[in-house]
Amino acid sequence: GALEKNGYDHFMLKEIFEQPETIEASFRGRINTKNNEIILGRLTDVMPRILEAQRIVLIACGTSWHAALIGEYLIEELARIPVEVEYASEFRYRNPVLSSNDVVLAISQSGETADTLSAVRMAKEHQAMVLGICNVVGSSMSRETDAGIYTHAGSEIGVASTKAFTAQVTVLTLLALRLARLKQTIPEERFHAIVTDLLAAPEKIRTILQSSNHIQYIANKYRDAVNALYLGRGYLFPVALEGALKLKEISYIHAEGYAAGEMKHGPIALIDNNIPVVVVAPKDRYYEKVVSNIQEVKARKGNVIAVVSMGDNRLKGMVNDVLEIPESDPIVTPLLTVIPLQLFAYYIAVLRGCDVDQPRNLAKSVTVE
Ligand code: G6P
Repeated sequence: GALEKNGYDHFMLKEIFEQPETIEASFRGRINTKNNEIILGRLTDVMPRILEAQRIVLIACGTSWHAALIGEYLIEELARIPVEVEYASEFRYRNPVLSSNDVVLAISQSGETADTLSAVRMAKEHQAMVLGICNVVGSSMSRETDAGIYTHAGSEIGVASTKAFTAQVTVLTLLALRLARLKQTIPEERFHAIVTDLLAAPEKIRTILQSSNHIQYIANKYRDAVNALYLGRGYLFPVALEGALKLKEISYIHAEGYAAGEMKHGPIALIDNNIPVVVVAPKDRYYEKVVSNIQEVKARKGNVIAVVSMGDNRLKGMVNDVLEIPESDPIVTPLLTVIPLQLFAYYIAVLRGCDVDQPRNLAKSVTVE
């Protein structure tokens, strides 16, 4: 009913706007603000085995798989442990090499996705240690894994996942930082700088949410698109995938996410003066590379909508539209950059008259194969 929507037109919009609070809920009790130490209580007993693991295998489906990709980049970068990411639906059927030296970490909002649960069971048969990141307390996944971390995002009703995704990314960031701390793979000052920026993320997301009218205005310009391309590099490549998935799920516009450096190997052929190209381009170590990608799109008359760092006048002068985000440590930018992409997809879908909370053919959780 309208009441549960708290005055918002749709659950999805409500859930997008809840993210400052749900991310805080994912932190709660897990960061000691006196010394920045990270506490993941339910992992205490299994931590030695994680630290000794020859690799960590992340398994998930859909949006949770995109969170897993970010997790791979975070854990490898910060904690220097090899990570692989698998679709649960592939992993369960392909006889993967697995042993008791592996740690499998399954990620699922619902904890009931059939493919993910089967992959969990298979990993256990191979004697791997199996952990979970899950939103629903008491779900099948939380009962069947050896240990885990709850995301505490609250119940998510909109079929297209938003706040559960940012909660998963938050928890994966905490895990990567905890592992890095124990393995001493990053300098002390860097550790503190990241934790400080992570704690500042909810406030920065509030700032981004205040620009929702502007995002709606831009969405109106591109509502009739037939195809869309999303580009990003590094931690923001999975964000590009997630932005494209949001658009295609709820607006039925065909959208593809791509690693910006791969554009020249295919998607560049799609670029003409009709296609919107959403480029995630904040100031980070890839910035100059992404600027060249944008120039390549502009040279072929593509329409570029860029997610940029606040005050980036250089890109503002180069692209059709900008969505601004506050500056932050690159480790935290996935949490910030995905917000305008969620809103962009939401407003386009609403303008096209789509059923945002119940998109056709999709289910909130896929409990049968
Ligand atoms: C369905 C939902 C997606 C979700 C995916 C995985 O396809 O529509 O939003 O990302 O399942 O769900 P899970 O509950 O395992 O995260």
